[in-house]
Formats: sequence, C-alpha cells, structure tokens
Amino acid sequence: MNVIDAATAPHQKLAEALSDDLTAVDAMIRARMASENAPRIPEVTAHLVGAGGKRVRPMLVLASANLCGYSGPYHIHLATTVEFIHTATLLHDDVVDESAERRGRPTANLLWDNSSSVLVGDYLFARAFQMMVEPGSLRVLDILSNAAATIAEGEVLQLTVAANLATDEATYLRVIRGKTAALFQAACESGAALADASEDQISALRDYGDALGIAFQMVDDLLDYSGTEAMGKSLGDDFRERKMSLPVIRAVAAANADERAFWERTIGKGKQANGDLDRALEIMRRHGVLDATRDTALEWAGVAKAALAPLRDDPLREMLSDLAGFVVARIS
Ligand code: IPE
Ligand code: IPE
Ligand code: MG
Ligand code: MG
Repeated sequence: MNVIDAATAPHQKLAEALSDDLTAVDAMIRARMASENAPRIPEVTAHLVGAGGKRVRPMLVLASANLCGYSGPYHIHLATTVEFIHTATLLHDDVVDESAERRGRPTANLLWDNSSSVLVGDYLFARAFQMMVEPGSLRVLDILSNAAATIAEGEVLQLTVAANLATDEATYLRVIRGKTAALFQAACESGAALADASEDQISALRDYGDALGIAFQMVDDLLDYSGTEAMGKSLGDDFRERKMSLPVIRAVAAANADERAFWERTIGKGKQANGDLDRALEIMRRHGVLDATRDTALEWAGVAKAALAPLRDDPLREMLSDLAGFVVARIS
C-alpha cells in the first residue's frame, strides 16, 4: 500500500491551486455559520468547522466551475453550500452512528448532546438552502436540493439494511451512492452548471463525482476496520453499528460454518464481546476481503478518471484525475 507524502497529496495540490477561492470559502463558512439568536449554533459549528476537514467537496465545486470557464463570484457560494450540507450530514450522522470522535475531536453529540447536533445540523441545512438560491440558477438549485434528499435516502436505506446478513452488493452500492456519492456528484455537476458548461461537460463531471464518491466511501468503509487513529475518527464504529458495508458483505459470502455463526452473532444479533472486532479483522484479512474492497474502489477510481476525458486539457483536470487515485491509496 502506498503511503503518500501529505505535501504532495493531490488534495493538497488542488488546495494550492485553488487557494484564493478556498480562503474566500472559509471566510463565507465562518460568516454564514454565525447566528445572533442562538449562541449554541456558533459554538457547535466552530467546534466542527475549526477542526478543519479535507474540504474535498468545496474543491470539487471550485475546480469544476473553473475547468468549465466560470468567471463570476458565485462558485464561492456553491462551494460553501456544499460544505454546509456535508457538515450538517456529519452532525446528524454522528448522532445516528453514536460516534465519539470526528476530525480528531470529540463529536458534538458527545460534547453537547444529540439534540444540539440534530438541531444545529438542521440549521446548517437551512443555511445551505438560503445560499444555493443566491446564484439565481434553477438548474443549480435542482441539482443541490436533489442531492440533499438523496443523501437522506441513503442514510435511511443503510439504517434499514443494517444487521441484515442477506444484504447484497447492489444494495450496498445504492446506499453509498446515496449517502456519499450524491454530494460529490452534485458538487461537480453544480460547478459545471454554474459555468453554463455544455451538456457533455456537465455529464462528464457528474459521472466523475459519482464514481469518485463511490470509491471514497468504499475506502472509508475499509478504513473503519483497518485504518489508524490518524483518521481522526474511531475505528470499529461500523462493526458496533452492525453496518453491512462491503468488507462485511464479502466476508459473509466467503464464510465457513464457524465464521457464519460469528457474523450471525455479532452483526445479525448484535451480541458483541471484547476481541470480536479483532476477530472480524482477522477473518477479513484471511479471506482477502480488505484488499478486494480496495481493488473495487480502484476500479471506481478508474471510472472517475475515464469520465474526465471530454474536459479540456488543464492542470486542474490532472489534479482531479490524481485525486481519484489518492482517495483509494489513502490510509487515513
Ligand atoms: C466523511 O467525509 C464522511 C464520509 C462520506 C465518509 P470526509 O472524509 O470528506 O470528512 P472531512 O470533511 O474531511 O472531515
Ligand atoms: C458518511 O457515512 C455519510 C454521511 C455523513 C452522509 P459514514 O457514517 O460511513 O461516515 P463516517 O465514517 O462517520 O465519517
Ligand atoms: Mg458515521
Ligand atoms: Mg453513518
């Protein structure tokens, strides 16, 4: 597995190439997350936003708009909108997943409470909707509002198939396309639509975002078992929450009778004891399902790269292409 030097990582290169715009996005995030009426809101948002985050989705908006020749001011609004939607989903997601760590900090649900996380998340969604109107483009509004609905569908579908050992890979793909790829896709597509790009360019970027988001989430699911503390979120959340992620689906498919009983107890019935997470990891390693998951993510990264072909030759296009490789190679 490649360990990539952070200084040369593609998302760092993109951040450098887009640094002025990203500074403007950061300023807008800070300005728009404020609330004079409820001090709890800036407290919670500052905690999460101040911890950073990779800012992958805003960079996708900025790069897509730029690649399609946009020269107006509203790419900043769109990039901020997308990061707000992302932040809102993280607040909600950490409640649903009962997670304790995010971006290297205790989660808001742990520091404050579930109610604060849910309500501040709602506030950020509402702020995102206010902002997505500002460019005055119905097309952009359509793309982003659809994505918000699709993300929620993905999260709910995931909830309803959790603990169900019969869940297949097609269902898993529907889950991650919804909960994660939809926003990657909308980030790219809305950036292109804002620039009034051709339909070919818009669909190229849409397809890129979809495949990139799928690859990204597959690796996230892999790292939930085999990652390191450097991820800034705790390992084993998916096992504890009995998620039917790709490594589990493949381990169940390859299981012998003993292993089948193990998955039925831990994931199916949720009866987990100390050492079970290690045993899960050991079973996964033995069947090669972690490597197989990374291979499948690599295939999706290939789909993402290929989708960029219709776009003009440009350093930003190369960076987007490299980003697809990076999300698969990342170990944190
Ligand atoms: C986390 O996304 C949620 C997933 C879709 C796995 P990121 O890994 O992009 O989170 P931040 O913004 O960098 O913290
Ligand atoms: C992230 O799902 C997707 C959304 C936040 C909608 P996960 O639950 O897999 O992501 P992490 O691991 O908490 O970041
Ligand atoms: Mg989660
Ligand atoms: Mg989740």
